[in-house]
Amino acid sequence: MPSMAFLSLSHPYVSAVLCAALTLLIAKEVLRNLKKRNGKKYHPVAGTVFNQMLNFNRMHHYMTHLAAKYRTYRLLNPFRYEVYTAEPCNVEYILKTNFQNYGKGLYNYNNLKDLLGDGIFTVDGEKWREQRKISSHEFSTKMLRDYSISIFRKNAAKLANIVSEAATSNNTLEIQDLLLRSTMDSIFQVVCGTELDSMFGSNQEGKIFSDAFDTSSALTLYRYVDVFWKIKKFLNIGSEAKLRKTTKILNEFVFKLINTRIQQMDISKEGFESKRGDILSRFLQVKGYDSTYLRDIILNFVIAGKDTTAATLSWFMYMLCKYPAIQEKAAEEVKEATSTNKISSYTDFVSSVTDEALEKMNYLHAAITETLRLYPAVPVDAKICFSDDTLPDGYSVKNGDMVSYQPYAMGRMKFIWGDDAEDFRPERWLDENGTFKPESPFKFTAFQAGPRICLGKEFAYRQMKIFSAVLLGCFRFELKDEEKNVTYKTMINLHIDGGLEIKAFHRFRD
Ligand code: HEM
Repeated sequence: MPSMAFLSLSHPYVSAVLCAALTLLIAKEVLRNLKKRNGKKYHPVAGTVFNQMLNFNRMHHYMTHLAAKYRTYRLLNPFRYEVYTAEPCNVEYILKTNFQNYGKGLYNYNNLKDLLGDGIFTVDGEKWREQRKISSHEFSTKMLRDYSISIFRKNAAKLANIVSEAATSNNTLEIQDLLLRSTMDSIFQVVCGTELDSMFGSNQEGKIFSDAFDTSSALTLYRYVDVFWKIKKFLNIGSEAKLRKTTKILNEFVFKLINTRIQQMDISKEGFESKRGDILSRFLQVKGYDSTYLRDIILNFVIAGKDTTAATLSWFMYMLCKYPAIQEKAAEEVKEATSTNKISSYTDFVSSVTDEALEKMNYLHAAITETLRLYPAVPVDAKICFSDDTLPDGYSVKNGDMVSYQPYAMGRMKFIWGDDAEDFRPERWLDENGTFKPESPFKFTAFQAGPRICLGKEFAYRQMKIFSAVLLGCFRFELKDEEKNVTYKTMINLHIDGGLEIKAFHRFRD
């Protein structure tokens, strides 16, 4: 994502704009307080969006600090009030109890629509309900499950081969970049039925698509901090001109793919598509030939499934390197569950990671979940309040306020997890028999909760468990530089800033 470093706060124009905005903020707050009626009270003001901007590179640390102090607080913003909560009863209320009063709203829709159209991530109401219904059904079918497992296995074996080469030649690996490419290939093939091969870059068109996709999502996110984006879009300049160009590349690639699939379908008429497991073919069967609708489906699912799993797996690798005893315990579990003594080929090893073997990997499941508690792929998630309301903690919110729950901050709250909240301890997710024990989704919010809970949760766990079982079963990992500070980059998903350099060593080989 473009950084905020370009903003020099000492610049006279910037200072003038800041002063004007601050005056506006204070006037707004005074006005709201004057208008207080019926004894309504509002959450404490913990700062302004300018404090957030000043803390941009350590945003989640800053917001965790505020959450520990206030649990729920407001930040003043010239355009709207921003309420941030880490209180599970408030989270349950906005995500489930009064679900219809909190949604994407026009604010998110306008920011996202050029890239994601009317896809499941951008819409509310009936448009959302219909897509949710069809997608939930497709995600629960055995066909999609079997098809996706075969793709995860293929890509996990590819990944193992790359890691093996690095281990043999004693080279370091930037594992986050590898995982990003590998999850892109996996989700793209599950969604479109086509091999993108960003792992090896053999598909030139695929590479152009992949780069355009990353640039478009970064530029779309940039709209959230760029108050001038609409003017720039109108004038077709700067970041907006670039966004227009990259979304054009995306659209051309995706429409071509859709048209080819439609032609294939027309030629073979019956039988052909019903045998294909990918999401595009399934939607073509259910919804017919609406290319724009299909484009939106494709891009929304690719964005949902790519960075989230890659970022989680990257933090997971980091945790395993930081805690070698946990790494060994998880590797031992993989070895036992797959009955592996010796690895002769990665493709063979991958086929031993069966559904039954994955079921047995409770410790691995717990370690991945513990990673998501401390490093949730979506660190903050914003909703818009549609009408005045009072939250369960007794404080009010108003129509148009932005109300966010904070998975990152919540994962670190002592009042939710106890005094060892900041420790990485997979055991907290296991019962006395070593079986995985889930937590309330209103405390562990990494996948959201309520009617809009992540639709790909099981899918994501399956992929993450297959990938990590293969990596842990075949290799041992260490950080390249133990002393290097590893932190996040502030963007929509919680990526490791600058990637993660690691060294790999073979296990159980001839
Ligand atoms: C570690 C992996 C993942 C995490 C932590 C995660 C987390 C989330 C979160 C927090 C949301 C709510 C976002 C919002 O408010 O718009 C969400 C929604 C969603 N996720 Fe995931 N996700 C993951 C992987 C996936 C995968 C692999 C897929 C699909 C293949 C997927 C599909 C979706 C969809 C379709 C929605 C929208 C649901 C709706 O609005 O009804 N997710 N996910």
